[in-house]
Order: sequence, then structure tokens, then C-alpha cells
Amino acid sequence: MSEVKQALVQAADAARFAPSIHNTQPWRWVVRADRLELFAVAERQLRAHDPDARMLLVSCGAALHHAQVALDAEGWSHTVDRPASLTPDAPLAVLTPGEQRPAEASATRHLQMLQVRRTDRRTVSEEEVPESVLDELVKATEQAGAGLHVLGRDQVLDLAVAVERAQAAEAADDRAAAELATWVGGERPEGTGIPSSALPAEVPLTTVAERDFQTAGTVAAGEGHDRSATYAVLYGTGDAEADWLRAGESLSRLWLAATEHAVSLLPFSGPVEIPFTREALRRMLGGTGVPYLAIRLGLQDPAHAAPPHTPRLPATQVIEIADEEKP
Ligand SMILES: Cc1cc2nc3c(=O)[nH]c(=O)nc-3n(C[C@H](O)[C@H](O)[C@H](O)COP(=O)(O)O)c2cc1C
Repeated sequence: MSEVKQALVQAADAARFAPSIHNTQPWRWVVRADRLELFAVAERQLRAHDPDARMLLVSCGAALHHAQVALDAEGWSHTVDRPASLTPDAPLAVLTPGEQRPAEASATRHLQMLQVRRTDRRTVSEEEVPESVLDELVKATEQAGAGLHVLGRDQVLDLAVAVERAQAAEAADDRAAAELATWVGGERPEGTGIPSSALPAEVPLTTVAERDFQTAGTVAAGEGHDRSATYAVLYGTGDAEADWLRAGESLSRLWLAATEHAVSLLPFSGPVEIPFTREALRRMLGGTGVPYLAIRLGLQDPAHAAPPHTPRLPATQVIEIADEEKP
């Protein structure tokens, strides 16, 4: 296999670490001799929670950014083609490598962060995220094309209301409840979904309620609260499929930067999934932006162990190596 193709396989493999809604990993890669193609997998779309495939595309965007991080870490320059409008069966994005040069130290660090990052639903410590770190996180998000709106105290209460309303709407929907039961809880030996080992054993005492996955986990949630947490909204200017993919790339960029600063990031997609709470989030942005995700940022209390990594599908199931040379 050529050196370029090997780098592309490694990039697709690193993208398996990406976060995704309910750990659905709704992506597939095709490695060609000179490029890497990213496809969405409709069978792993959450039809009840995510009928427009908004969160599916944010998840695929996170995987796309992870693949770029892996190419950067090997020193490969690359271009990304993202079609303005998506067509079924066509790639969501195509990554084409250019020249290989010595990798920058920051690229190597980002690759390390990608392996360390995880969703941590424990309560955060009493210590606030320093202002200077928040500035860095806003900057990292903006470099990737989105915005991060940090919520003031009153807006956190508005977010808490939106989260609760979204939760109530989803709890009243039998299809959504059945979907949760399919994707969440247990040991998940098949490599998808959220195992009990990643969920809190008891409901954390917080102002903004964490997502109710309708099943108890095994992680000690901690005695903290979320008083010192920072809540924010990841947002942008567009509300089309291509924008959701870009939002996912920004989420990944932000999450890796947060991990580098030992800040835990917890996404809240519930209020974006439900149209009327999405509208409430839009109002929090002053009507100037489109909300992609609500986010909690906080420092972890080192007294409790972090949850283990969630499972991933095997590489053979998500990576297809095409155009193999005939022997
Ligand atoms: C688009 C998106 C939405 C998510 N929404 C939530 C959420 O509402 N609540 C939550 O606890 N985790 C949420 N997550 C985190 C996923 O559950 C998590 O990424 C997945 O289970 C894989 O685990 P890991 O992040 O530890 O690798 C979300 C992740 C993504 C990418």
C-alpha cells in the first residue's frame, strides 16, 4: 500500500475515536489511492430523536475533524471538499492529502488529546474554568468556523428550563423511549451505544439537568453541583446540512482544546433536537445565530475516577479500502 494510502487509512482509523450522538458512530469511510471519502450511515440515524439528521451530521463532522487531526499529526497537508448541498450516496466530504512535511508539535498534541477525550457526566468541581482558558476555547472554536456563546447567570436558568422542556417532550414520545432503550445501557459488546459504565449511578444534583437516559449507570456522579460550571451554546450562521457538518468539526476542535486544558465538556443536544426549545436557544443568542449544541464546561473533581472509554465499531466495519492494486 502506498504511503499516502496508509496515512488515509490511519486517519479514518483515528476518526473512530470521535464523539457521536448516543455513540451511534453514523459514518463510513472509503479510502481511495489519493483521497478519503466520508459517508453518512442512514441505518445508524436516530429517527425519533434526530429526524432531520442534524445530530448525525454534527457527529460526522466531529469524525471529519478527527481525520484531519490525524493527517496533521503525520505532517500531511490536505484540502477538504464539502459539497454545499448533500446528495444521497454522495460523500459528505472528501479529504485530499498534498505534501508531507515535518509535523507541528500542536498537531501531535491534538492527536494525543483525541485518544484521551471522553464524555464525562460526573458533576464538576467547585473551581471555575479560568477566564483565560475560556478565551482560548472560544478562540479554538472560532478558528474552526463556529462561535461559542458563554451564557450569563440568567441565561443558565433559561437553559435549564429549555433542557427540562425538551426532556419532557422526548419522555412523552414512545418512539424516542424505544430508541433510548436500543442505544443505551448494558455492556454494548457490539461496539455501539452508551454502556452503563459511562453513565452516572445516581442523578447528579445540578441546575441544568443532565440528559435522562432512563437507565442507571455505574459511575459515581460525585458530590459536587454545577454551580461553578460554565454553560455555552455552540452556534453558527447557517442551518443547512453542510452547516451541521461544519458544526461537528468545530465541536471536535473545541473538545480537543478543552481536553488539553483539563476542562471536561458535556454536550446537551436535547434542547436542539426539539424545535420549540431550539427556538428558545436561538433567542438566547439574541436571534443572530443558529444553535447547534448546548455545552457544559467544567473542571473535574480528581477525587472520583473518570468513566472508562465507550466502545467503538471495529475498523473493518467503518473503513473500506477501495481500488486495491491487483497482485
Ligand atoms: C452531536 C452530539 C450530541 C450529544 N448529546 C449528548 C447529550 O445530550 N447528553 C449526553 O450526556 N451526551 C451527549 N453526547 C455525548 C455522546 O453520548 C458521546 O460522545 C458518545 O456516547 C461517545 O462517548 P465518548 O464521547 O466518551 O467517546 C453527544 C455527542 C455528540 C457528538
